[in-house]
Amino acid sequence: MSTLPTFDTDPVPLARHFPADFAWGFAASAYQIEGAAAEDGRGPSIWDTFARQPGAIADGSTGDVACDHYHRYPEDVRLMADLGTRAYRFSISWSRVLPMGTGAINEPGLDFYQRLVDALLGAGVQPLVNLFHWDLPQTLQDRGGFANPEVVGWFTDYTALLASRLGDRVKDWMTFNEPAVFAFLGHADGIHAPGLRDWPTAIRVADNELRAHAGAAQAIRALVHDAKVGVAIDVNQVAPATASDRDRVAADRWSSARDAWFLDPLFGRAYPALGLDAHREAGHLEGVDLAEPPAGDLDYLGLNYYRRDSVSANSDRAFDWEIGAAPGSEQTQMGWHIASDGLRDVLLELNQTYAPPEIVVTENGASYPDIVDRDGRVRDGDRQDYLARHVAAASDALRAGVPLTGYYVWSLLDNYEWSLGYSRRFGLVHVNFGNQRRTPKDSARWYQRLIARE
Ligand code: FCB
Repeated sequence: MSTLPTFDTDPVPLARHFPADFAWGFAASAYQIEGAAAEDGRGPSIWDTFARQPGAIADGSTGDVACDHYHRYPEDVRLMADLGTRAYRFSISWSRVLPMGTGAINEPGLDFYQRLVDALLGAGVQPLVNLFHWDLPQTLQDRGGFANPEVVGWFTDYTALLASRLGDRVKDWMTFNEPAVFAFLGHADGIHAPGLRDWPTAIRVADNELRAHAGAAQAIRALVHDAKVGVAIDVNQVAPATASDRDRVAADRWSSARDAWFLDPLFGRAYPALGLDAHREAGHLEGVDLAEPPAGDLDYLGLNYYRRDSVSANSDRAFDWEIGAAPGSEQTQMGWHIASDGLRDVLLELNQTYAPPEIVVTENGASYPDIVDRDGRVRDGDRQDYLARHVAAASDALRAGVPLTGYYVWSLLDNYEWSLGYSRRFGLVHVNFGNQRRTPKDSARWYQRLIARE
């Protein structure tokens, strides 16, 4: 439990100085909050399909209703405004605006995002539009999905549509959220949609994501004056489980085969040699023709940071590794090892290695089993403590010269946590999924005071 009192104290106990225009925000994604899955012409996405597969989701739930944000967005925007939120990162449901993935435009679906953007701007909250948070239209999956190189054209056309409709009001754009999670958990591990288990496919998907990113970035720049284009990469702190050589090699290979696999090409380098070795030795490149992907042309690098991963080698074989939390470590309900110093270190390392023009913490947050007390309060001191420590780490990185321009908490609302369904709560606002009632937790009040003070 937290050692920080909830109210009436300095939100971040040491002297912290964030720039006046720092983007204090929240992040969310379409499938996790919108609901209205079959409304106003929305087509199915691969998550609609996957969530219906027996055993795919821990509690057997779907995102059909989720937080009903599609209908309740005015209330949710008001909540953000009340908290003093300066920025909001949300994603577009591709199949809501293009039900078949390409071709016919669904105007009511587009209209939802127009209204959302207008409501945000009216409330003084800057929108950051993320184009892809894993919910590919099912019709495109039926045509091979991200393993089909045609996806570069599909994604670029979809991006151009959004840029032309929202670009007069939206300047901050993100092409992909966590391309590694989509490629690897969805196509190699099979625990996310589309639920495939084939490494060469996953490698092709990753490659096409990088190409689609480049096409989309170009489309946005052509259509949006003063656009800022970025991508959110999930990089956690990686540590060998022991000081043994085997674990150290495994940890290096893991970072290279996963994190640098995306980061190096995005910053104009070839796929990393260590990662190539690991993937090749594990047979992941069989039948794959890998050419060098185009560079990312990024205005900012988005970092999603949550935890420390410890890596132990089961054998000397590549990818025969175990990734998880160190035993006895302080963990959230996800079983994620809390390591706020890792946020500072990862920020410093990304800055040193890649020197992006700007870095934004595009996700950071924690899941705990929150309950609404009889007096209506949600006493989530442990989440507040988690956030305060990470904000302090971000501030350390800023002072050490990292060009950090924003910090987005995952998330405003408790929501649909993918294969864990509604069993994990990440919100600063509690959602009762029976009646959709929103209750700001103590951490929301804490964040409000932090933003007001900084
Ligand atoms: C990230 C995802 C986000 C959410 C958080 C907890 O990996 O981008 O959708 O699930 O984890």
